[in-house]
Amino acid sequence: MKRIAQLTDLHLDDSMAIANGVDTRANLVHVLADIRDKGIRDVVLSGDLGEAHTIGWLADQLLLFGLSSRYLLGNHDRPADYAALAGFAENTHAEGCYFTLREDGFLQLYLDSSRYEIGSGQMAWLMRQCNDSDEPVLLFIHHPVLDCGNTPMDRFYPMRKRDILRDFLLSLRRPVHIVCGHYHTCHEQQIQNISQYVTLSTYVQLKKTGLLLEMDGRDIGYRIIEVNSGTLRSWSMEVPLLARVS
Ligand SMILES: [Fe+2]
Repeated sequence: MKRIAQLTDLHLDDSMAIANGVDTRANLVHVLADIRDKGIRDVVLSGDLGEAHTIGWLADQLLLFGLSSRYLLGNHDRPADYAALAGFAENTHAEGCYFTLREDGFLQLYLDSSRYEIGSGQMAWLMRQCNDSDEPVLLFIHHPVLDCGNTPMDRFYPMRKRDILRDFLLSLRRPVHIVCGHYHTCHEQQIQNISQYVTLSTYVQLKKTGLLLEMDGRDIGYRIIEVNSGTLRSWSMEVPLLARVS
């Protein structure tokens, strides 16, 4: 059994965060301490991590907390900012940085949706990986693949052509777990063989309803994923603002 912590949408030193008085670095440190205190060693960072000058600092923090990390790019990330990090060069293809692992009884796919889509080359690679394996799939991606109930994010900033990926994953007829972020909210759903887990941001949250994008408070969070020989449990961890200032 292994537990993995997923952090998403850190937006370190984002100009809007600074303007709104949100200390994104302090938020991250608080979450990393919580993860370390739970005895978790493995972290997945699922995109929108931060401004260019923060990526080295982020890598240093992960080292300081003794965490082993893997990361995905989000739509706010620029690949050049990650070039110095371990694994980046060897996992970079024409359509982005993506890779696969076979661990804990899962085919694990780490995708790059930073261009708001999974292009034809990455899609062909993904299909080959899935067709060469009969293991359940654990798929990390910045953008949700399934619609989350026509949220403002679904309407304004969804991944393009997401239904193509959804339909392929449905066709696998074996368990597929999608772990993602981007929407700055917690949302979990299951459709046939697909379970999708959208995870809270460590910056701020956004409302699930309404005509426009609106903030939904400054409580932050992350996700724990417990994997054990091809089975998976996952739950959201909330870190209230009050707990961070007391
Ligand atoms: Fe995003």
